[in-house]
Amino acid sequence: MEQTAIVTGANSGVGYGIVQQLLQTNPDIQIVMACRNPDRASRARASLMEEFPTALIHVELVDVASATSVLSFCTAIKNRYSAVSHIFCNAGILSAHGINWYQTFKLALTDPVGLLERSDATKQIVGELNQEGMGKVFAANVFGHFVMMRELETLLAASGDGRVIWTSSITADDTCFDMNDWQGVKSEVPYESSKWACDLLATASHDHFKKSNLAISSFTTSPGVVASSIGDLPAWITMFRVILHYIMRFLGVTSQNITAYRGAFADAYVAFAPLLVLTTTIRYLSLTNRWGKTYVGEQPLSIDLDTANLLYQKCNTCYKAQKKSLPMDLP
Ligand SMILES: NC(=O)c1ccc[n+]([C@@H]2O[C@H](COP(=O)([O-])OP(=O)(O)OC[C@H]3O[C@@H](n4cnc5c(N)ncnc54)[C@H](OP(=O)(O)O)[C@@H]3O)[C@@H](O)[C@H]2O)c1
Repeated sequence: MEQTAIVTGANSGVGYGIVQQLLQTNPDIQIVMACRNPDRASRARASLMEEFPTALIHVELVDVASATSVLSFCTAIKNRYSAVSHIFCNAGILSAHGINWYQTFKLALTDPVGLLERSDATKQIVGELNQEGMGKVFAANVFGHFVMMRELETLLAASGDGRVIWTSSITADDTCFDMNDWQGVKSEVPYESSKWACDLLATASHDHFKKSNLAISSFTTSPGVVASSIGDLPAWITMFRVILHYIMRFLGVTSQNITAYRGAFADAYVAFAPLLVLTTTIRYLSLTNRWGKTYVGEQPLSIDLDTANLLYQKCNTCYKAQKKSLPMDLP
């Protein structure tokens, strides 16, 4: 059966790399670039068409931070396609308002690898809400994708082997997440909280699909460290970091993928590997060795199923309210 993959945030960074990796592995796969900005999306599409002249690549506009926009996007998808084989829940933001220089220097001396892998030196904005009253980072990184996944469940199942692949992060773990603040509104690290929420939902959704006898699976991946524009760091810092990334990689720090193409390696693996070799209790990592060889690593996840299912239920309640255009009853 023909495969159709939806990639959110496909116009830049890891999302763009995912499209390249998918087309390189399976030139017949049809791509839907789910992007919010028409100009950036069409420029990215043109550049992908230059690299893959025979590829089938379409652009569909969506703002994943708005459930209303995601619902309209899904209506358009249902009108155009009879099946969807993959959804890459990749679009994401890290809302920052500067750099914590004290932390930067401290980490440079005590934990240089951590400085390059985590966002500890970034001052994240606390308390941001989107127009629908939901935590802004959670809405973009998590809830919009949850709505997309639920809304397109029938199309995913119709493909016979639907896969939902969440872009998480090696920096996310259960210490970043508090169920009493599941949208990360009060959190000092709303980005990491949202990434662990992706891992929780990947596990809970997989469980839900199996219990509902749907031919859909859900997995989580990490692109490692990619020198993208996430976090809106000043250009000179990004450039300086790239030099440090290469030095670290040469010293054997395998998370330093640096390019989005390498960062998306694990996504293509999870997209096409036989289901029998994949599991939801693992986060699949893109890693690169000092000689520039990229490969897939496995990071076991310590997911508490009760927490995962509770988060799934909370998101599902909000999803149902959004579908009926009712207020979401957010805490
Ligand atoms: N870079 C890393 O080292 C790293 C590490 C771990 C995980 N990740 C994850 O990788 C994913 C991609 O990030 P990236 O590093 O590739 O950053 P990026 O280059 O900034 O790409 C983010 C993409 O998401 C899109 N996006 C953001 N908000 C959106 C919205 N509301 N609606 C639709 N699209 C939206 C952006 O579109 P615009 O161009 O219109 O802004 C862009 O295409 C994220 O989930 C991030 O958490 C990245």
